Amino acid sequence: MSGDLTVSAFAKINLTLDVLGLRGDGYHEISSVMTTLQLHDSVRVSVREGDGIFVAAGLRHVPSDMRNTAAKAADAFLRRTNQRLRIELSLRKRIPVGAGLAGGSADAAATLIALNALTRAKLPRDELADIGAEVGSDVPFCVLGGTRLARGRGEVLSALPSVPNCRVVVVKPAFSVSTPVLFQAIDSVEAPRRPDENAVLDALRCGDLRAVADALGNVFEDALTEPTRHEIDAIKTRLTSLGALAASMTGTGSAVFALFDDELSSRRAADTMRRRYRETFLTRVRSDV
Ligand code: C5P
Repeated sequence: MSGDLTVSAFAKINLTLDVLGLRGDGYHEISSVMTTLQLHDSVRVSVREGDGIFVAAGLRHVPSDMRNTAAKAADAFLRRTNQRLRIELSLRKRIPVGAGLAGGSADAAATLIALNALTRAKLPRDELADIGAEVGSDVPFCVLGGTRLARGRGEVLSALPSVPNCRVVVVKPAFSVSTPVLFQAIDSVEAPRRPDENAVLDALRCGDLRAVADALGNVFEDALTEPTRHEIDAIKTRLTSLGALAASMTGTGSAVFALFDDELSSRRAADTMRRRYRETFLTRVRSDV
């Protein structure tokens, strides 16, 4: 068996993100409205007869060994489908790393989707998502895509109406935030501001972008250290002063996203933010999944 396939690996944002409590297994119970962006990495997957998983990431801070989420996904896929193959993964990264945009999880999901198409496995998407849960909490969402409510540790997913068409500006400051550290920090925050998830769900049902924007919220913003919080708030304020409907941190950060209902101001905002923050992206929600 041999073949090659290149698959897009799409970033996600959390329109709302709440932590409901710490679980017995060390993970946290979350509730989050997540949606897929057009911003993506590209993952080229080559399958040959033989053995071994090889990764070329081309970036210093992205591992090129079995610590890479795409390599872990390939390994989990071979184990679940009981196959022996030589797999080469070549990642073209665009999604910022350590940003809360699920870049690593998206690469893992794209790897699963490509291997499923290239090999004789032909598993249904739900089973691919289940394999993804072994690799990371955001991988099942990335396998399914679209707009979804995520519960459990992020793997219990239900479909929601698409986010109304809009522009999204994503700004990643130079620093990153550690996901486990922030999950630990949230446990000792006394009364964090919680997002109004029901307001977002109602707004999605009505297709009301302004109401979606009004209800954005991420509980982790209250768990940031003071200097980090200050910088995140400054980015949010700058984006709204540049015409965004609203802005919020995604995941455990450090990227901030802002929703725009008109193209011109989104383009101007992205150009302005890019002068200070090199990793600034102008993209859209991916409403066609
Ligand atoms: O699942 P994933 O490997 O992406 O999670 C990374 C870390 O984030 C976990 O080891 C855990 O510390 C934390 N986490 C959590 N609760 C979640 C998801 C992640 O505590 N629902």
